[in-house]
Amino acid sequence: MKRQRILYGLTILIVVLSISIALAIIPPPPANQNMGIYDTMYEGFAEDECRACHSSGVPDTHHMLVPNEGYNCTDCHKLGPTGGIDTPIRDCLVCHNASPHHTADEALARHCSHCHGSLVDDYDDEHYIPTYAASLITPDTSYTWINGTTNTKGGGCEACHEANTTPVSGAAIYDNYQTHHSIWPGDNNMCGVCHDVTGTNVSMRKCEDCHGVKSLHNIQYDYAATEGELGYGHIGDSWDCMGCHSWFEASSTVPERLVTPNIHSVSSDKLVAGAKTVMTITGSNLETTMDGIDYTSEVVIDDGITNITLIPDSITGSEIVVAVPGMRKGNYGLCVVKGGLKSKLVPLVVAPKVSIDSATIRGDLVTVRGSGFCDESGESYSELLGVTIACEGNDLETSMVSWDDTRIVVECPSATVGDMATVTTLYGSDSATIAGSRRR
Ligand code: HEC
Ligand code: HEC
Ligand code: HEC
Ligand code: HEC
Ligand code: HEC
Ligand code: HEC
Ligand code: HEC
Ligand code: HEC
Repeated sequence: MKRQRILYGLTILIVVLSISIALAIIPPPPANQNMGIYDTMYEGFAEDECRACHSSGVPDTHHMLVPNEGYNCTDCHKLGPTGGIDTPIRDCLVCHNASPHHTADEALARHCSHCHGSLVDDYDDEHYIPTYAASLITPDTSYTWINGTTNTKGGGCEACHEANTTPVSGAAIYDNYQTHHSIWPGDNNMCGVCHDVTGTNVSMRKCEDCHGVKSLHNIQYDYAATEGELGYGHIGDSWDCMGCHSWFEASSTVPERLVTPNIHSVSSDKLVAGAKTVMTITGSNLETTMDGIDYTSEVVIDDGITNITLIPDSITGSEIVVAVPGMRKGNYGLCVVKGGLKSKLVPLVVAPKVSIDSATIRGDLVTVRGSGFCDESGESYSELLGVTIACEGNDLETSMVSWDDTRIVVECPSATVGDMATVTTLYGSDSATIAGSRRR
């Protein structure tokens, strides 16, 4: 298992690297990229950015498709020239060549907050949308004024969210037109999600289906450190208010400042089914004090049907330590929730760990006991999986007698005490030296 450990080490390093892409462009445009999703199109994402979110169990999530969805090894792996499997293709974008996220059920149901968290609202969550007629303070989808000399804009999203015109490191930043049109490119059935029914008119009221007053007024990067500073979000300084509200000056009306929590990374690269894991979540705005009240986050794990809510063992504005109880094999999503505001969702994968307690021989029969042998043994996916008995490195002839999650029996006439038994499942392997059996 040493190889795997090295790999996971690499994954963690990559996560750290891609966070450092965050740009410091003050004042915008373009806006910094500390929160939410990098403002690019699908093609702009690289493997390391996929892995920054999919930091746990990438091999396992694929290998669960073998029993669950009828995939075979060779659907995704080429056989090597000298037998065995070739080095796996690891670059996500080679196989996932279009956004897999926006064909997910939640996206098609317009529940964008499922993954994007409370940076956006859902059209049907009954959030407040003003009913008064648009006025001078209503932000425009692009801008209400532009300075002809400097090209500085005000009174709308484009005052700050624009394509990246100055060269900086990282993927290109695209404008709102391009980022929004890239999720369902050219799909005429979807235009009405963001435009009115008559066609392609743009109106802020329609954008407010997802960008309501509440979510917009809660967006600020690391509020504790950037309060009073302009350019880090929507509510740091009056300058930010003006970006959307043009010359409307903040007076006595102070918007809510609970600010949406943000996840940077989760520490766990592998969750073992049934085992408790202590996990460190780093981020910003995880804890906020507002009007003398401390708001802390809970950690919520969603298995698609129910939510498990966990109280952190410790929490600061930028770090949570939480004990995740043993869960069943499967795919989960994790987010943090503070005062009803949700961070973006991060995938978690839980896979069984194969572990041998004992391997014993009696007559021709070798019995291996332990856990995590899986119950999919009925189907033989591949000669690469199963039990091998080796004598001084050479595999012996075996035939399967029975296999369940905790006990495997194989017939192996040439096996002797001291040989090595190895169980390989889709999710890993374990070995043990064969001992003699006590008579029963
Ligand atoms: C911001 C975090 C994030 C990033 C970046 C990210 N993903 Fe995901 N991905 C998710 C979440 C969250 C889900 C859904 C999990 C759920 O619904 O429980 C998901 C689901 C998926 C799925 C399954 C979709 C389905 O059919 O349900 C695939 C495939 C996938 N991601 C591939 C990728 C690839 C390839 C990349 C890089 C281009 C990538 N992801 C980048 C968070 C991310
Ligand atoms: C749906 C696609 C898919 C299927 C089916 C699949 N794999 Fe994989 N496998 C992958 C991907 C993708 C990776 C690389 C994961 C990564 O880089 O994190 C991988 C990695 C591996 C690895 C290397 C593990 C590591 O982390 O280094 C082995 C070994 C492997 N697969 C064996 C198999 C066997 C055996 C089967 C059939 C039982 C199989 N795979 C079926 C997609 C698949
Ligand atoms: C060798 C091809 C291959 C590579 C490389 C690959 N995938 Fe996949 N992946 C697949 C296939 C095939 C499926 C199943 C069909 C689908 O959802 O597109 C899949 C499904 C998934 C799923 C959904 C699993 C489920 O239960 O439905 C996720 C999440 C995912 N891939 C993420 C990734 C990430 C992240 C990477 C890169 C680190 C990656 N994949 C690399 C082929 C690949
Ligand atoms: C299953 C999780 C998931 C759901 C649901 C989802 N997204 Fe995304 N979204 C992502 C991920 C991950 C990325 C980055 C990779 C990509 O483009 O697929 C992304 C990227 C984007 C981008 C481009 C990046 C940016 O910051 O501008 C936009 C725009 C976007 N999504 C809009 C939406 C809208 C609108 C909905 C609801 C109709 C939605 N998303 C639902 C996961 C999701
Ligand atoms: C005064 C400048 C400014 C204006 C005007 C502005 N934004 Fe932002 N916005 C920001 C900054 C800065 C961030 C934080 C970027 C980061 O660090 O990721 C941000 C973040 C966001 C986010 C969170 C996701 C992300 O990409 O970080 C959304 C959603 C958003 N803005 C929507 C809007 C909408 C909709 C409008 C127009 C109604 C708008 N913004 C106008 C400065 C602005
Ligand atoms: C996920 C949201 C989303 C979807 C879906 C969407 N658009 Fe847009 N559209 C936008 C945004 C954001 C803008 C930029 C508005 C701005 O800058 O004022 C825009 C701008 C436009 C404009 C320019 C209008 C102007 O006055 O500047 C046209 C034309 C347009 N969209 C057509 C379409 C068509 C046709 C479809 C369906 C194929 C579609 N859009 C789907 C979000 C969306
Ligand atoms: C169906 C939901 C939906 C609608 C309608 C919608 N957006 Fe967005 N918007 C999103 C999502 C999701 C994101 C990505 C947030 C993130 O980065 O996590 C986003 C991001 C943004 C951002 C921040 C920059 C970025 O790319 O992340 C701006 C600005 C923005 N939208 C403007 C608009 C405008 C203008 C309209 C109306 C023409 C509009 N949006 C309509 C869902 C929507
Ligand atoms: C990202 C854009 C954006 C920023 C930045 C922003 N707001 Fe707003 N605000 C809105 C939108 C959209 C509305 C709804 C106005 C409408 O649709 O007519 C709104 C409405 C309001 C309202 C009226 C609320 C109501 O009940 O209808 C007040 C007051 C307000 N904003 C104050 C502020 C102040 C003060 C700041 C700076 C601390 C600020 N806003 C920053 C987008 C923004």
